[in-house]
Amino acid sequence: MNADLYAKYDIAAPRYTSYPTVPYWSDAEFPAKKWLTHVKRAFTADPYISLYIHLPFCESLCTYCGCNKHITKNHAVEHPYIEAVLKEWKMYAAALPGKPILRELHLGGGTPTFFHPENLRFLLENILQDVDVPEHRDFGFEAHPWSTTEAHLQTLYDLGFRRISIGVQDFDEDLMKLVNRSQTIESVEQCTRQARATGFESVNYDLIFGLPKQTLAHIRTDAHYISQLRPDRIAFYSYAHVPWLKRSQCAYSEADLPTGAAKRQLYEAGRSWFEADGYAEIGMDHFALPHDALFKAMRDGTLHRNFMGYTPYKTRLMIGLGASAIGDTWDAFAQNEKTIADYQRIVNEGRLPIFRGHCLDAEDQRVRLHILHLMTRYETGWTAEEREDETLTAALARLEPLMADGLVQIEPFRVRVTPEGRNFLRNICMAFDAHYWRKQPEGKLFSQAV
Ligand SMILES: C[S@@+](CC[C@H](N)C(=O)[O-])C[C@H]1O[C@@H](n2cnc3c(N)ncnc32)[C@H](O)[C@@H]1O
Repeated sequence: MNADLYAKYDIAAPRYTSYPTVPYWSDAEFPAKKWLTHVKRAFTADPYISLYIHLPFCESLCTYCGCNKHITKNHAVEHPYIEAVLKEWKMYAAALPGKPILRELHLGGGTPTFFHPENLRFLLENILQDVDVPEHRDFGFEAHPWSTTEAHLQTLYDLGFRRISIGVQDFDEDLMKLVNRSQTIESVEQCTRQARATGFESVNYDLIFGLPKQTLAHIRTDAHYISQLRPDRIAFYSYAHVPWLKRSQCAYSEADLPTGAAKRQLYEAGRSWFEADGYAEIGMDHFALPHDALFKAMRDGTLHRNFMGYTPYKTRLMIGLGASAIGDTWDAFAQNEKTIADYQRIVNEGRLPIFRGHCLDAEDQRVRLHILHLMTRYETGWTAEEREDETLTAALARLEPLMADGLVQIEPFRVRVTPEGRNFLRNICMAFDAHYWRKQPEGKLFSQAV
């Protein structure tokens, strides 16, 4: 590992789950009518759609968590929330000029398994009656091992789910206590075993490197359990430290956080152990076994990345339901109200609860595609005519120092990321980020790149 490079490139940088990144979205108010025009156009171009449903409740607060969630033990919140999500969905279903084909369905959170299985069934049956479900699809959900029951697994399996993403973070129970997470190794083992017995074909583990007091010994233990339990995929996330946005991250001392080269060492050690165990690195922070759909998509050049992370399918339209959920039509983004109270109130008034958005102009779409290709194929290309584009010229000039550091190769019609450069994908994508270079943020917006 080249510690000098990590020191040099450890700057605040976006993760590029969208381009433009959310702070650069132009429309502080985004009329629902305008959004629906984009939705209908995307649907007309491609009737296959993706659906993301945000289920924001958790029973207890994991202090590291950067997600949009609401902590409560009061399960009476489930019913009104589900009613609102259904009302929101019915507004979309009524507006679409035909029956959508649901290629991707993802339940995220918060903790989807906070909800009673019968409530999830009610929600999903009412949505599924409005769509066609193709044979080749990707229906997955985020599961907290502590709250996932056999009834959850069976219910979701019966509804067509075949992929489960289990939040593990780290197998060390003491480390988890430090971040206020109740979870045992047995609960992860049991959830994995039950998911497989139910028929789930792809099991993912979410792991995080860079947690407070996390050391190489912890990652070694994680690799040991990975080797035993053999999840089909691993999401190995870089801990995003954003205490100015998430106050709970102030619960531990910053002095306990591995940073820079020390943090990166955790990733590289994990990667070498996972690879020795047969996993392949997918894009920036994912790993998959060769039989998994994500691996095949990378091999076949069809890997895609959206707000849900890396995915094997690409649809033009992604509808986001629930508080804070984001929709994407390729030429526009829209985000729902973030608080549950505002979200439910607006939906119950019969309106789409969108509070901000962005229409992508031609330059945004070109840059978006370059960043997508870099993130999913480790290269991006252009034609002789596209090479005349000023935005591309500026990006290539910004890449010169990265080429000198051996992170990219610039060829006449493409940029290729080198094996060393894969460790700096966020920095490489940043060279293309026209919005960022036009106006750099004044306050803190992004977590560190390393
Ligand atoms: C919505 S949560 C998972 C579902 C469930 N609540 C659980 O904890 O098991 C999605 C994932 O985001 C990741 N995550 C949350 N906060 C993060 C942070 N600050 N940095 C990096 N990854 C984070 C975790 O790996 C987590 O499993």
